Amino acid sequence: MSFKVPRGTQDILPEQTPKWQKVESILRDLSRVYRYKEIRTPMFEQTELFQRGVGDTTDIVQKEMYTFEDRGGRSLTLRPEGTASAVRSYVEHKMFGIPDQPVKLSYIGPMFRYERQQAGRYRQFVQFGVEAIGSADPAIDAEVISLAMDVYHSVGLKDLQLHINSLGDKETRDAHRSALINHFKPSIGEFCSDCQNRLEKNPLRILDCKVDHEHPLMESAPKLTDYLTEFSSAYFDKVKEYLDVLGIEYVVDPNLVRGLDYYNHTAFEIMSTASGFGAITTLCGGGRYNGLVQDIGGPDVPGIGFALSIERLLLALEAEGIELEVEDSLDIYVVAIGDEAKLKSVELLSSFRAKGISADMDYVDRKMKAQMKSADRLGAKYVIVIGESELEEAAVNIKHMQTGNQEKVQFVDLVNFLLEHK
Ligand code: HAM
Repeated sequence: MSFKVPRGTQDILPEQTPKWQKVESILRDLSRVYRYKEIRTPMFEQTELFQRGVGDTTDIVQKEMYTFEDRGGRSLTLRPEGTASAVRSYVEHKMFGIPDQPVKLSYIGPMFRYERQQAGRYRQFVQFGVEAIGSADPAIDAEVISLAMDVYHSVGLKDLQLHINSLGDKETRDAHRSALINHFKPSIGEFCSDCQNRLEKNPLRILDCKVDHEHPLMESAPKLTDYLTEFSSAYFDKVKEYLDVLGIEYVVDPNLVRGLDYYNHTAFEIMSTASGFGAITTLCGGGRYNGLVQDIGGPDVPGIGFALSIERLLLALEAEGIELEVEDSLDIYVVAIGDEAKLKSVELLSSFRAKGISADMDYVDRKMKAQMKSADRLGAKYVIVIGESELEEAAVNIKHMQTGNQEKVQFVDLVNFLLEHK
């Protein structure tokens, strides 16, 4: 019997984790600079939270959730995204009462969706997301978009395109909804059963149907942008004005509707335009969700945010041929010859590590030559070889591996030497 990781999941192996840690530290730094404080919520929630939050008619809720009953008979779901959880926590902990609004939150953690496996699409993936809850100022829409763009610039990505759209307010959506129903109703028999179900419940979802996307009625469907109210248009113009001030380029994409139900006004996605990036080019998605806090049982408070997956960010780096510079250094490797020397090595290693100097030695009884090779493979900056004469002299030649230079240093002075030359 042999075991494998479950379909759609992956092991992040030790040689890959430095890259992940580097990206995570960039994300944490940016969150700090923009002042989005980290929130950690459970990995599962009451199923109803996502049904209400993400929306009953979305693909996520209908097809992709990992839902299970616990031993107490409660229906729970592994979180497919982070917004509903962040908003639930915001309401539960009455963060609307905090004097400084908006409340700016960030999170990094695994999300779960039972999706068809393909490049860039996993069943467990790590999302970084931010949510700014409590402001309906178009300047914060621009701030959130700017933070998302900064993430990609900070890792060196260049082949990016920002798509933005306005999904309008309730009035816009109601008018557009009726127009969509009138448009599709006479021929709805030609569409898949999901679309037939969506017609009355949520006709907007028909537009991102993966089955019928080539039906001619899709192209001629009424565009939401034609139904924008004066307020929505003015709001959208303001967001664009702020983006211009920030020097952020964008494409207005009237077909951008997003796959989750809570959005209104600003919606955006960042795509990779790198050749060699797979079929799925969306790196990041987000938008405004005025109304969601109230739907989840809180006051009528507006919000906006985005999320991106680290998996797709790393794929984009690969597609652009960018190697992240990662910290994976070994300051010193200690080669020991004989039992006495080994005792001394263990003692020295401990004194190095206590001062934050990374140090390693052999634990599988290899000959000196093999130990030297090992030091080389591990990329050690310095090597010392301890044998009988070194023990007698209480001193050792410390070799700088790159230059080959050697210097004699007393055992007691090694820590200081390394701290000075690290
Ligand atoms: P979403 O568009 O469903 O939005 O997902 C956001 C991002 O998560 C995607 O652009 C992609 O980078 C990543 N992602 C989604 N599904 C997968 C997958 N199966 N495998 C790998 N990566 C994936 C949301 O989740 C919203 N909560 C975003 C948001 C926050 N809106 C407002 N605030």
